[in-house]
Amino acid sequence: MRDTNLKIAIQKSGRLSQASIDLLRKCDIGFDNGLGKLRSVAHNFPLEILFLRDDDIPQYIEDGVADIGIVGENLLAENESNINELEKLGFGRCRLALAVPKSFEYRTIQDLAGRRIATSYPGILGRFLESNSVTSDIHTISGSVEIAPGIGLADAICDLVSSGNTLFTNGLTEVETVMESEAVLISNGNTEGRLQIILDSLLFRIRSVLAATQNKYILLNAPNEKLDAIERLLPGMKSPTVMPLATSGWSSVHSVINDDEHWNVVEKLKAAGAEGILVIAIEQMIR
Ligand code: PRP
Ligand code: ZN
Repeated sequence: MRDTNLKIAIQKSGRLSQASIDLLRKCDIGFDNGLGKLRSVAHNFPLEILFLRDDDIPQYIEDGVADIGIVGENLLAENESNINELEKLGFGRCRLALAVPKSFEYRTIQDLAGRRIATSYPGILGRFLESNSVTSDIHTISGSVEIAPGIGLADAICDLVSSGNTLFTNGLTEVETVMESEAVLISNGNTEGRLQIILDSLLFRIRSVLAATQNKYILLNAPNEKLDAIERLLPGMKSPTVMPLATSGWSSVHSVINDDEHWNVVEKLKAAGAEGILVIAIEQMIR
């Protein structure tokens, strides 16, 4: 049944590789990703994983070499192709930015007028410059953009910045943010029949994993007279679970809370009389 596996393309090596692999593993998809491997077939799910250069993934998906893929939104914006964004994945956050050598006395974007800018994102950069009424000379290169100013190929660059290490190592300073980006799951919209069923099942798992990482499970003990105030702080998936403790007059309360606000809620719970508060990671959350 090898030919009816769903094919997913992920970055071979780079910013998104490990997080993409981790996401599939959290979905309980077992596969081998030995170094240098270009493709791998999952042993417990009808999925084939292709390890490719991220910049090539949108094209491969459009051509049907892969059905779905994980790339940065930046690549989607650059390609403007017939590709659907299925889900934002919450990792790989970065920005596409303009950067100049330290010696460049940059004040405003007008300083880039008539200058040479090296980038792998001519489409996005062109639109950005146009919206700022600046005309520059865009040099499209496919990789190692950050070395272009150092070798006299360009006055500035427009490239992805995540930790900022690449810019720092190459003596470049970030001057403008062109777009913010994060990893997204994309498809070519051509999946039907069995492939669509597999995709729906994978999406169900991915959404359960994403919901889990956005939430925490919380347990606490409280004297019964404080329960009303505590329950008001805890919406839960439906409502909190309240169970009596062996010690009379006390209860144990369980609920699910949003990860972003959990410190805030924990402080309020403590102030409302909660004791022995435990906050636990959730593996999967099925809605
Ligand atoms: C991007 C970009 C830089 C690096 C920046 O590469 O081209 O090389 O990430 O990250 P940093 O700010 O953490 O140093 P990408 O992951 O797209 O790989 P690629 O250039 O090989 O396509
Ligand atoms: Zn890339």
